[in-house]
Amino acid sequence: MKAAVLCEQPGELVIEDLTVDAPGPQEVLIQTVGAGLCHSDLHFMEGLFRTKVPAVMGHESAGIVQAVGADVTYVEPGDHVVACLSIFCGQCRQCLSGNPHRCTNGRATSRNRDDAPRLQRTDGTPVDQMARLGGFAEEMLVHQNGVVKVTTDVPLEKACLIGCGVTTGFGAAVRTASVPVGATVCVIGCGGIGLSAIQGARVAGAGRIIAVDTNTTKLETARLMGATDTVNAAEVENVVDAVREMTKGGVEYSFEAIGLKATAEQAFEMLEMGGTATVIGMVPSSTKLEIRGIELLSEKKLQGSMMGSNQFRTDIPQMIDLYLSGRLLLDEMVSATIGLDEVNEGYAWMKEGTVARTVITF
Ligand SMILES: NC(=O)c1ccc[n+]([C@@H]2O[C@H](COP(=O)([O-])OP(=O)(O)OC[C@H]3O[C@@H](n4cnc5c(N)ncnc54)[C@H](O)[C@@H]3O)[C@@H](O)[C@H]2O)c1
Ligand SMILES: [Zn+2]
Ligand SMILES: [Zn+2]
Repeated sequence: MKAAVLCEQPGELVIEDLTVDAPGPQEVLIQTVGAGLCHSDLHFMEGLFRTKVPAVMGHESAGIVQAVGADVTYVEPGDHVVACLSIFCGQCRQCLSGNPHRCTNGRATSRNRDDAPRLQRTDGTPVDQMARLGGFAEEMLVHQNGVVKVTTDVPLEKACLIGCGVTTGFGAAVRTASVPVGATVCVIGCGGIGLSAIQGARVAGAGRIIAVDTNTTKLETARLMGATDTVNAAEVENVVDAVREMTKGGVEYSFEAIGLKATAEQAFEMLEMGGTATVIGMVPSSTKLEIRGIELLSEKKLQGSMMGSNQFRTDIPQMIDLYLSGRLLLDEMVSATIGLDEVNEGYAWMKEGTVARTVITF
C-alpha cells in the first residue's frame, strides 16, 4: 500500500510502497478514505520535535474497517471509523480517573518490541507510524482503542477532521477551559485548530469571540465559524492592546492555536482579572514562556490542553450529531482536497498560511 513517509528530519514526505502486517490481537486494519493535514506533522517534518524515522506521517484520518484481529469486539469489517491518537488503555490511573486522553500506558496498546512491525519496507526495514496511527496511507493498522465507530451518514473525508483538529480545538474550548455562556473569548491563530476552538466557543454560547490571525482570508473563515470580531495581527502594532481596547480590559478566556512563544505570551497578557489562557499550539521543547509573576495575584491562569481533553469515543459521535444538525461546520473548513502524492504541496500551502484545512482523499 502507498504511504507518505518521513525518512529524515528535517525532510519532506516520500511516497513509498509498504507492506502492512495482518491485524494482531486488538488490532484493526482500516482502508483510509480521508486524511486531514494538521500542523503537528509539519512540526515533525521541520525537525522541531524528534520522532523515529522512517515513519508514516498523518494522524487525522477516517476510513472503513477492512479486517480485525483476535479479541476485537468493538468493530467489525465494514464499520465506518474515525481514528484518534488518544489511544487509551482503560486501566492506568489517568484513564480510570476520567482522563483517557492522558493515558500513560502506551505499551498496552502497542506491539511489543520483539513482535513483527506493523509496517515495513519491501527490504524488511520497519516503518513507524506517526502517533501510532500513520494516517497518510492507503491502509492504517491501529489498536481498536484508537478508533470510534461513526454513522455512515457523515462523509469520511469530512469526518476525518474531527480525529484531531476539531476534537482538539472544540474540546479546548468546551472541555479544557469549559467556556461558559456569555463569556468573552479570544482565539489566536485561525488554522484548523483555532477555527475549531472558535466553533467550540460559539456552541458553548460565548458572548464575544475575537479571532486573531495574520491572514485576512483566515479571518473571514473565522467569522463564518462564529467569530464576532477580528484582529489582523499583521496590521496592528500590538495585539494585546488591540484586544484590551476592544473588550475594555481583556478577555475571560484566551486560546493560543499556533505554537509560538510570542503568541502564547499574548494569550496570557490579554486576560482580564481571573481569566484563563489555554495554550493548544505545540511550543518547541527548548522554548520557555515568560509571564510576569505579579499577574498571578489577579488569579489569571495559564494552562495547556492535550487533544482537547477528549473522551473521543463519546465526544466524536456527539460532534458528528452537531455537524449533521448544522451546528458544527466541517465542509467550510476544507479549503482543498488533494491526492496522497500532493501531500508536500499541501504542507507548502499551510506554510504560506493560505488554507484552513487540506484533506487527502484516497
Ligand atoms: N494540543 C494539542 O493536542 C494539539 C493537537 C493538534 C495540533 N496542535 C498544534 O496546534 C497548532 C495549530 O495547528 P493548525 O493545524 O491549526 O496550524 P495552521 O498552520 O493551520 O494554523 C496556524 C494559524 O496561525 C496563523 N499565524 C501564524 N503566525 C501568527 C501570528 N504571529 N499571529 C497570529 N496568527 C498567526 C496562521 O496564519 C494560521 O492561520 C500547531 O502548533 C499544532 O501542532 C496541538
Ligand atoms: Zn493534529
Ligand atoms: Zn491508560
